[in-house]
Amino acid sequence: MLRLGVNIDHVATIRNARGTPWPDPVRAAKLAEEAGADGITAHLREDRRHISDGDIDRLMESLHLPLNLEMAATAEMQAIALRHRPHAVCIVPEKREERTTEGGLDVAGNEAFLADFIAPLREAGCRVSLFIGHEQDQIEAAARIGAAVVELHTGAYCDFDTEGRLAERDLELEALRRGAAQAHLLGLEVHAGHGLTFDTVGPIAAISELRELNIGHFLIAESVFLGLGPAIREMRRNMDAARA
Ligand code: PXP
Repeated sequence: MLRLGVNIDHVATIRNARGTPWPDPVRAAKLAEEAGADGITAHLREDRRHISDGDIDRLMESLHLPLNLEMAATAEMQAIALRHRPHAVCIVPEKREERTTEGGLDVAGNEAFLADFIAPLREAGCRVSLFIGHEQDQIEAAARIGAAVVELHTGAYCDFDTEGRLAERDLELEALRRGAAQAHLLGLEVHAGHGLTFDTVGPIAAISELRELNIGHFLIAESVFLGLGPAIREMRRNMDAARA
C-alpha cells in the first residue's frame, strides 16, 4: 500500500496573499480526506509564510487523518511539536530566503545535534522523519540516530524531467531507487516527495520500498482547473496504476 499525504501549504499561500480567511487550508484538508488522502502534511515555517500556528491548532482539533508536521530543527518548532504531538514530524532544512525547501537535510554532518533534537519527539510518540537526499551516508546517519522514517527528496528528478534533461533524470531516478532499497534494508520506512506531478509520479510510485508520497504544490495548482478532489483522485489513480 502506497499512502498519499496531501500537503496543504499552498492553500495557505493563496489565503495569505490577501490576508483574508479564505481559502482555508483546514477546509482543504477535510476535502482531501473525502477524496481519499491518507494523511495531511503541513509545513510550519519559521517565517509563517503559509501555514500559521492557528492552522496547526485547528488541524489538530478537527482532522481525522494523521498529521505530518514539517518543520525545521529549531527549539521553537520542537516546543510546538511537543505541545501538539502530531502523528509524524518531518524535519526539513529551512533557510529564510529560499523559495522552497532546496536539497535535503545534512544528517551526516549534524548527527549528534539531530540525535538530541529528535529524542524528545520520539519519546513523545511522534514518528520522526528526516527529509534527505538519496546519498548513502545520509541514509546511514538517519538510521544510526534512530529516525523511524526517511523521506527522499524527489525535487532534482522532477526538475530534470521538466527541463527535458532526460539522461540526468534517469540517473537521478536510479539513485532514488538505490536509496530507497538501502534505507529499507536498514529498517527505515521510506517516503518520497517534492515537485511530483501527474507526469513524474509514476516511476517514483513504482519503487516498491516506498510507503508514502507527500505531494502539495502541483495538486493545489491543478485544483484551479480540476478542483481539489478530482486532482487528488487523479494523482491516486496514477499512483495505483504505477504500483499495479
Ligand atoms: N515533502 C517535503 C519534506 C516537503 O518539504 C515538501 C514541500 O513542502 C513536499 C514533500 C511537497 O512538495 P510539493 O509541494 O512540491 O509537492
